[in-house]
This record gives sequence, structure tokens and C-alpha cells, in this order.
Amino acid sequence: MRLLVLGGTVFLSKAVAALAVERGWDVTVAARGVSGEPPPGVHFVPIDRSTPEGVAPLAGESFDAVVDVARVPGHVGVVLDALADNAAHWTFVSTCSVYADNATPGQVAATAPLLEPTDPTSFDGDIELYGRSKVACEKLVLDRLPDRALVIRAGLIIGPGDVGDRFGHWPHRIAKGGEVLAPGGPEEKVQFIDVDDLATWILDAAEAKTSGVHDGIRPPMTRKDFLDQIAAALDVEPEFTWVAQQFLVDHGIAPWSGEESLGLWLPLPEYDGFLTRDTSSAVAAGMNYRPLAETVHRWRAAAAEPPVLKAGISSEKETSVLDAWHARNDD
Ligand SMILES: NC(=O)c1ccc[n+]([C@@H]2O[C@H](COP(=O)([O-])OP(=O)(O)OC[C@H]3O[C@@H](n4cnc5c(N)ncnc54)[C@H](OP(=O)(O)O)[C@@H]3O)[C@@H](O)[C@H]2O)c1
Repeated sequence: MRLLVLGGTVFLSKAVAALAVERGWDVTVAARGVSGEPPPGVHFVPIDRSTPEGVAPLAGESFDAVVDVARVPGHVGVVLDALADNAAHWTFVSTCSVYADNATPGQVAATAPLLEPTDPTSFDGDIELYGRSKVACEKLVLDRLPDRALVIRAGLIIGPGDVGDRFGHWPHRIAKGGEVLAPGGPEEKVQFIDVDDLATWILDAAEAKTSGVHDGIRPPMTRKDFLDQIAAALDVEPEFTWVAQQFLVDHGIAPWSGEESLGLWLPLPEYDGFLTRDTSSAVAAGMNYRPLAETVHRWRAAAAEPPVLKAGISSEKETSVLDAWHARNDD
């Protein structure tokens, strides 16, 4: 298989390229090369998708499969113009942020309403436009290659090489044991996908020439299950104290990501649909997922010691919120 990875210097797209090399595929990685290093064993082609001229180094090339992770419609347009006619299969990695309704649980990719797309010729990379830009990117790919395109709308991607750290707090914190602040309720759902499970599915789907639109995220599990499975993987028996959503907000803990935040926790009912997607079509289309314990061990093996995390709460914050929670219950 001759594979082109557009990206390939960070996290998911790098995992796709690395796993394809392991399979013995002929792998080309094309990017600027400023976000990181491509994995060993690939041909690296420097491109800059900000202009049509910037992708000239790929002109005239043909591939059995192309995988693209772009976030900006203009970046998608320039590579489609250069390569669409010479690619047997095209996977575009999108995001569950394309959906217009985050509140209704159990939605499926085929029918869920989408945000309004941005201008398909736009080169605006503003993060505020992320979901709408991805809708425009998807549409460009699907319109250009209706029978050869696979769109995978990834949910939270976790595992080694993660740059967002929305997962890392949990294995890092639970490994220390003791009383652990757990957000919201134990029966609330969480949903995520291991980076290598997603990358493996992308390669399998390219080989099988799978087309269509699917969510790239494993089925939901309860937050209690999620935390218990991490604890079991680490062979520790922490005491989880469940602290109500509003109490956390009132005490300065942010949902999802950023400073003093808790990952895999979002305000309900506004986000009742965000971590409860029905992904049976993805499973039917070949997506597999490994035990969470494996992801925990692989993440820990790859993380620095101690890990440097962009998200999660400090131990001081956790202690002060737990103290306040117990004081309230003691009243
Ligand atoms: N992480 C998550 O939890 C999550 C959740 C949902 C969806 N997703 C989606 O999953 C995908 C993740 O992809 P990823 O992990 O590989 O990270 P990424 O940050 O999306 O990677 C972007 C890649 O594009 C390259 N690039 C950026 N600007 C470029 C330009 N002007 N010209 C050429 N190349 C350029 C970057 O390399 P250089 O900078 O070196 O050029 C990099 O390799 C994305 O599509 C994202 O939207 C992620």
C-alpha cells in the first residue's frame, strides 16, 4: 500500500504513519515539519498548505490511500486539487465538534444535525470556528470523492503522545491513591478512543476501501466504570468522593480542559449528548477498541515522570474542594 499522511508529525496522524510503517506500507508524510518529527521509516515531503504553490512537491504523485487531519477548509481544497484524481481512497479525520446538538443522548452520525459550514475557500484557522470549519472540510472531501471518501468524526482521543491531556490527570492522580475527587455522578457517561485503536481502524478502512461517515469513538461507559478500570489497571484502591457538578463550578473547577480542570467531565444537561454517541455504525464498519487498562499503561510508559500536564487539577485544589465538600455535608 502506498499511503500519504497529510500531517503525520503529531499524535493521531503520527500514529497512523507509524502503524502503517509497521505493516510494511510505503508511507509518505507531508507537513511543514514545525509541530514535531515524523516517525522513523517514512518519506517526509515538506509542504505548506497555506497556498496552492505550497503543495507543489506532491504534484503528480499517486497513492492507494490518503489520510488527512486538517482543520481549515482552504488546506483541504489545495490538497484535493493536487491529488484527488490520483488517490484510490481518502480518509478525512473530522471531529464530534461538527454536531449542532450536544444535548440529545444517543445520536448517530448518519442523522445528527451539523453546524453551519464555514466558507469552503477560507484559510481562517480561528479555534472558535473549529466545528464549523470541519463541517466545510468534510463537505469538500465528500463532494469531490463521493465513492472513495471515509469521514471519521473523532471524539476525545487518548493515549501516548496526547497533546491535550484531558485524560492524563486520571491515571496520574489515581496512581497516587487516597481520596480522589470524582466529578458529577458515577452513572454519568464518558466516551473516548485510544489513539492506536483509531489509527488501526483508519488503516484497516483504507485497505478495505470503506466509505461513508462514522463517529470515531468507542461506546460510552459510566464514569464509575472508567475510574474503577483505571484503578484496577494501576492496582490501587482509591476512595472516590463524588462531588456535585454545581459545587465544582462554584469552587473554580473547569470542565473538560485547561487550568484546574477535570477531563471527561462536562456540564449536564447541556452536554448530555456529547459523551453518549451511538457508535454502532463505527463498530460495524470495523472499529475495535482495546481494554482501557492497556491505554493506561501505554500512556504512563510514554509520559514524563512526573508527567507535565496541560489539564487536570492540582493536589492543593483537590484537597481544598474536598475539604469544602465534606464541611458542607457535615453541616
Ligand atoms: N485530540 C483529540 O482529542 C481530537 C478530538 C476530536 C477530533 N480530533 C481530530 O483528530 C485529528 C488529530 O490529528 P493530529 O493528532 O495528527 O493533530 P493535529 O494537530 O490536527 O495535526 C495537524 C497536522 O497538520 C500539519 N499541518 C498544520 N498546518 C499545516 C500547513 N499549513 N501545511 C501543512 N501541514 C500542516 C501539522 O504538522 P506541521 O505543523 O509540522 O506542519 C500536523 O502534522 C484532527 O483532525 C483533529 O481535528 C482530535
